[in-house]
Amino acid sequence: MDAPGSTGVPGKDIGSFLADVVSGLGREQKQLPCKYFYDERGSQLFVAISGLEEYYLTRTETALIEAHGEEIADLIGPGASLIEYGCGSLVKTRLLLDALDNPYVFVPIDISEKHLRRSVEALDQDYPALRVLPVVADFTHPVPLPDTTVNGGNKKVVFFPGSTIGNFDHQEAAKFLGTVAETVGVGGGLLIGVDMKKDEQILLRAYDDADGVTARFNLNLIERINRELGGDFDASAFRHEARYNQKQGRIEMHLVSRREQTAQASGHSFRFRKGESIHTENSYKYHAEEFQALAAGQGFCPVRIWIDDKNLFSIHYLTRD
Ligand code: AVJ
Repeated sequence: MDAPGSTGVPGKDIGSFLADVVSGLGREQKQLPCKYFYDERGSQLFVAISGLEEYYLTRTETALIEAHGEEIADLIGPGASLIEYGCGSLVKTRLLLDALDNPYVFVPIDISEKHLRRSVEALDQDYPALRVLPVVADFTHPVPLPDTTVNGGNKKVVFFPGSTIGNFDHQEAAKFLGTVAETVGVGGGLLIGVDMKKDEQILLRAYDDADGVTARFNLNLIERINRELGGDFDASAFRHEARYNQKQGRIEMHLVSRREQTAQASGHSFRFRKGESIHTENSYKYHAEEFQALAAGQGFCPVRIWIDDKNLFSIHYLTRD
């Protein structure tokens, strides 16, 4: 399973990046794992996407946490250990930490050490009393937690914002939720942001904005192949496309070849027919009950759900009893 939203570390990842490019572009439907979006440039572009008018996800989720922080904190209770999978800017985490009653420890988990260190340094400055125990790990596998979290005997709550769960297909999402259930243990909780099914036009706009930021984000994958694998791809010969797959309930992002072409990278050559696409991302959307059913399959009971007044985005709190 690929880690969605993880930040690739240039240098360290080159072997697997090449292997994933070669195998992904060798398939009948060409594909590339979405985790490779997030190099330095891609991470910057994602921050830009978060601020777009069309990309309602980030601001809607942030507003929900701001509006319901107290209630969330009441449900989680005092002295909890907060564990975040794949930490980004930590804007939402800060809102949560501000609301929580005396959190025992904060454990951010990210695949990129550099990224993690940067985020944690800023947090340490602003929350001097908070114990922060960063863990470098791929959270799609069970992550052993630092002793302090385990031995505290306190409630463990995983925070997984951003609808990153949407990058998993249903089977992967179920497996991931099972891993989370194992991590938090009996009595533990999960606070998770999940983007909802809605009018197709709203979804398509969110993934194909007027300024073309999402297009640049998608095309950065091609440029990354050129940068890191010495590729000779012509990025201008591909165009960004967002599709809504109604049957699967997911947005798909593709890079469509504008013409018949051949490109090379690290001694491998890749042919594209005119109109052929590389499938670069899935972003699954869930009705509230659909997500609850998926989580129930892994032992999570729904406790509360917060949804904005336009029914765009949901935050679920579930517990494992
Ligand atoms: C926040 C990583 C889940 O699927 O909405 C934004 C990434 N892709 N625009 C999402 C993304 C295209 C995103 N995640």
